[in-house]
Amino acid sequence: MPYQGGAGGKETAVLPVVDASQHESTPIMEPISVLGISGSLRRESRNTALLRAAQDLAPDGMKIGIATLNDLPMYNWDDEQEHGHPDSVVAFRSAIADADALLIATPEYNYSVTGALKNALDWASRGGPDAPINDKPAAILGFGGRLGTSRSQEHLRLILRHNNLQVVTSPEVLITMADQKFDDDLNLVHDRSRDQIRRLLLALEEIVRRDRVASQ
Ligand SMILES: Cc1cc2nc3c(=O)[nH]c(=O)nc-3n(C[C@H](O)[C@H](O)[C@H](O)COP(=O)(O)O)c2cc1C
Repeated sequence: MPYQGGAGGKETAVLPVVDASQHESTPIMEPISVLGISGSLRRESRNTALLRAAQDLAPDGMKIGIATLNDLPMYNWDDEQEHGHPDSVVAFRSAIADADALLIATPEYNYSVTGALKNALDWASRGGPDAPINDKPAAILGFGGRLGTSRSQEHLRLILRHNNLQVVTSPEVLITMADQKFDDDLNLVHDRSRDQIRRLLLALEEIVRRDRVASQ
C-alpha cells in the first residue's frame, strides 16, 4: 500500500469539561482502555517503570495495559509489500486499534525518541487515515537526562501531529534524577511526579470522554 501520511495535527489545548453526572449510565462513561507504550526495550527501564506507576495511578474506570516493542522488526517497505505485516506487527496494531487512548513513555536518545519507538510508530502509522494511531487520544511522559526528555517529547509531539493524534498538552511530565524518584525496585515514590501522572491521566480521560460525547 502506498504511503498515505496524515496531515495537520490536532493537539488539544482546551478541553470542554464533561459532566459525568449527566452521563453516568451512558456509553460516554464506560471504562476507558489505555495502551501504554515504552520507548525503552531494556528490562530495568525507568520509562517502563513510569507506565507501571501509571497503572497504579489511573482514575476509576481507566485500565492501562503495556505493549511490548521488543518483537517488532525494523520497518522495511519492501518486506511490507512482499510479505504484509508479521504477527508481532498485527498484534501491536490491533492493541492500538482496541485501545481508547495511548500513553507513551519516551526516553531521550541523542536528543530524540529512541529508534525502537520511532520504528513502532512507523509500523502503526501505515494505512494513512485507516492507520490505528490516526486521531487517537494520547498522553506523553518521560524519564531521563538533565532535562527530563523535553527534547525527545518535542520530537514525539511532531511525529504524533503528523498522524493526527490528539495529544494532551498539560501537564508536561518530565522526570529526572532517578535516585530521588524511584526506589530500588523501580517503584515511583516521588509524590509530585505521581501527582503529575495522575493529572496527565485525568486530562487524557477528558479527551476520550469528550470524543465520545462528540460521536453520540
Ligand atoms: C544511545 C543513547 C543516547 C542517549 N542520549 C541521551 C540524550 O540525548 N539526552 C538525555 O538526556 N539522555 C540520553 N541518554 C540517557 C537515557 O535517557 C537514559 O539512559 C534513560 O534512563 C533511558 O531510559 P530507560 O531507563 O527507560 O531505558 C542516552 C542513552 C543512550 C543509550
